[in-house]
Amino acid sequence: MSSHPVYPDLAGASVLVTGGGTGIGAALTEGFVAQGARVAFIDVAEAQSRALVDTLGGRYDAIPYFLNADLTDIAALRKAVEDAARAHGPISILINNAAWDDRHEIDAVDGAYWDRNQAINLRHAFFTAQAVVDGMIEARKGAIVNFTSTSYMLNIGDMPAYTTAKAGIVGLTKGLAGKLGKHGIRVNAIAPGWIMTERQKKLWVTDEGLEEMIGRQCLKHALQPEEMVGPCLFLASNAASAITAQVLLADGGML
Ligand SMILES: NC(=O)c1ccc[n+]([C@@H]2O[C@H](COP(=O)([O-])OP(=O)(O)OC[C@H]3O[C@@H](n4cnc5c(N)ncnc54)[C@H](O)[C@@H]3O)[C@@H](O)[C@H]2O)c1
Repeated sequence: MSSHPVYPDLAGASVLVTGGGTGIGAALTEGFVAQGARVAFIDVAEAQSRALVDTLGGRYDAIPYFLNADLTDIAALRKAVEDAARAHGPISILINNAAWDDRHEIDAVDGAYWDRNQAINLRHAFFTAQAVVDGMIEARKGAIVNFTSTSYMLNIGDMPAYTTAKAGIVGLTKGLAGKLGKHGIRVNAIAPGWIMTERQKKLWVTDEGLEEMIGRQCLKHALQPEEMVGPCLFLASNAASAITAQVLLADGGML
């Protein structure tokens, strides 16, 4: 974490990270805490989230505020955003990171599965933005960073519901950027390549699969969650004051 530049405008900023308890989200939570931001994160992974709060409490003066809420439940999401704003002030930086990259066969998908998949991979990103945007408009500034994925650009075939949602995240990013720019609010997206989270390593990573991916990357190392922090801090900070409606690929030059 110490290798990241310090962005003075992030100190004291009220930051909300969705899915901030594990994986890339946990690295982002730490990255913003390390900048001196007031960080809240929403997650359903209770044990891991509480462990993260404890770990960060041992490393930094400030601890992040864990909100245990299911982002597929819009009322619960709104309440969590309200709680975060009450604790830290209106959210000025929203990181829409939570997702669920479940694999599925085409004939195994029914309406309920499809809706749940979109609810955790796409829908919540709109409703968290909706919940924070009035505060940003009032402040005449704000930054939203949405996590999409390179998977939808690669024609990966074993998760069409997820890749549909991740393509939708780009549409959402551009639509919100167009709507909110006049209020000084920037909306961008990050498209990670294959990132070696504990979940990926447990469920999907094989030696052959990783070798193939690294073979496609310009940079010949397995990408780590911490490597998503720098791009996200940059897009969230005033250093990116001229940048909105963009998708930043953080994929080691795979695409
Ligand atoms: N890891 C990768 O290789 C990779 C690649 C491309 C894009 N991405 C994207 O980056 C982001 C982070 O990836 P990750 O691999 O760390 O994600 P992940 O699948 O490990 O999950 C992110 C977090 O969201 C939480 N979450 C899931 N469902 C939730 C719900 N209903 N309510 C609240 N929280 C919920 C999880 O508990 C977890 O902490 C995602 O948007 C993902 O699509 C990841």
